[in-house]
Amino acid sequence: MTVLVDEPAALRAACDAARASGRRVGLVPTMGALHTGHVSLVDVARQRGAEHVALTIFVNPLQFAPTDDLDRYPRTLDADLERCRAAGVDLVFAPKDGAMYAPGFSTHVTVADVTGPLEGVHRPGHFQGVTTVVAKLLNLAGPCVAVFGRKDYQQWRTLARMVRDLDMPIEVVGAPIVREADGLALSSRNVYLSAEERARALGLVTGLRAAWDAFEAGERDPGRLLAIASAPVEAGFDRIDYVALADPDHLGPLDLPLPSRVLLAGAAHLGKTRLIDNVVLGEDPRPG
Ligand code: PAJ
Repeated sequence: MTVLVDEPAALRAACDAARASGRRVGLVPTMGALHTGHVSLVDVARQRGAEHVALTIFVNPLQFAPTDDLDRYPRTLDADLERCRAAGVDLVFAPKDGAMYAPGFSTHVTVADVTGPLEGVHRPGHFQGVTTVVAKLLNLAGPCVAVFGRKDYQQWRTLARMVRDLDMPIEVVGAPIVREADGLALSSRNVYLSAEERARALGLVTGLRAAWDAFEAGERDPGRLLAIASAPVEAGFDRIDYVALADPDHLGPLDLPLPSRVLLAGAAHLGKTRLIDNVVLGEDPRPG
């Protein structure tokens, strides 16, 4: 049975009760508009031994810039609950706006270094909003394991760093990217795309795939790998924030010669919609 709660204290009480009955708690934070990618995180939590899976749905205002899509972000609570029931989620926490940040809220969690490059350049303040809300959710639920998607690769590495640096007794797991049959990474923001934009959105994964093939074939020149990855993104998207190679652990620049594992990540705009995607060359399977 899936229980729905909307008060932070109720999330805490339910997870306390699960732990008291000897069950390992798993936490899957989301912003809702759930799709198969989110549901896969629930499965991963179970595979990692979670016996009581709590999924949180909260469109966190702290992580949106004024120019971002906070107001039009899709909110589909009824459909989300249906998916959670089908996936066997034990507890859904969907707080009302305001329940998470009391008047006078003035404490933030900041992770340096790993949040600087890539997304950090284009979304200042975003990761501080993410780490602050996830720290609160982890404190409320007290999970043994928390699962995040590698679709938001830098977010996953940032949260793993926060948990390590603050000695939170939690295993942070990064789950593989779930894609559509044609390779497009599932995202709640894909619903914004017109049919024509949806077709052009494939440029990101097409670029990643081409670079993956080149890397497999022995290409190790960063400039050539980036040119191969960028060409389909430039052809399909209206504006590119970045297509970049980075260290898969600290997200910083790479020394030459290239190491055996290389993060290739991209972010680009189609009209008002911003999409991201990535692959770890030398580690991940061929994307799509
Ligand atoms: P949201 O974008 O809803 O994503 C929730 C989780 O689902 C994240 O860990 C994200 O990486 C994962 N996810 C999304 N699409 C995926 C896909 N195609 N394959 C695998 N995993 C995928 O990320 C957030 O919300 C927020 O920043 C949050 C962590 C909840 C903090 O507010």
